Amino acid sequence: MKVAVLGAAGGIGQALSLLLKTQLPAGSELSLYDVAPVVPGVAVDLSHIPTDVKVAGFGRDDLNGALTGADIVLIPAGMPRKPGMDRADLFNVNAGIIKVLAEGIAASCPKALVGVITNPVNGTVPIVAEVFKKAGTYDAARLFGITTLDVIRSEAFVAELKGLDVATVKVPVIGGHSGTTILPLLSQVEGATFSEEEVATLTPRIQNAGTEVVEAKAGGGSATLSMGAAAARFCMSLVKGLQGEDVVDYAYVEGKGEDAPFFAQQVRLGVNGVSEILSYGELSAFEQKAKEDMLATLKKDIKEGVDFMAS
Ligand code: 2OP
Repeated sequence: MKVAVLGAAGGIGQALSLLLKTQLPAGSELSLYDVAPVVPGVAVDLSHIPTDVKVAGFGRDDLNGALTGADIVLIPAGMPRKPGMDRADLFNVNAGIIKVLAEGIAASCPKALVGVITNPVNGTVPIVAEVFKKAGTYDAARLFGITTLDVIRSEAFVAELKGLDVATVKVPVIGGHSGTTILPLLSQVEGATFSEEEVATLTPRIQNAGTEVVEAKAGGGSATLSMGAAAARFCMSLVKGLQGEDVVDYAYVEGKGEDAPFFAQQVRLGVNGVSEILSYGELSAFEQKAKEDMLATLKKDIKEGVDFMAS
């Protein structure tokens, strides 16, 4: 299994690479790419951890070297938020970065499964799709926006609130990865019930959890460690799928378009990426209204990505 991390020297990239060095199956290769000159050093640093995962670092001019032969590409590259910004404020800077990286993937490893972390995910994933379409390599089953951080935050907050074993808590989260587009389905959490007041408090806490970190870091960036853990968890789901295991997980994918062209929901994963998009089932009245209310925002975010590539 060869996994490439693009933006590997950043806060998310380093946390993610560390976890992959310790979690990928024996015999795997981890390929670290970054424009920051420290990337060979990050690779050397990680290579001293005694696991059977080979690590190599690739600098600014060797994107092709990092990507050739990759089965999975994870992209945390880009600018993080500062206090007062929302994810959409990052669009102009990060759209250009993600476009260049996607062009590299289309040229060097067009069959790889691609997981996008770069914000705003609602809009950067459509940019990658448009780049791949232009290159003639697009396969919707192989492109994912990583929304696992919304899922793990929900698990942590629900377990804390309800005094449950966090290892067993499962919370479906659908929609997108920004503000109200993040929709936790608390009505579907097994083993817990929530009062109307709890739903009205916990839902926005999950939606604004990224901002909670941005404000706590006070100008030092956004979530890196929890995002690294989330992306590593999602990567391991992709790995298991590629290895032929039956695995389901949540991701932001191009689906049947019933709600929006891209939508985060539960998918079944296999050797070719998404093998099935699973229904999110019945929503409570609160969730149904929250979904309807956020769709215009999500569609606007998606259109911004598509328009960026058209212009
Ligand atoms: C977050 O949700 C960085 O988007 C990331 O905190």
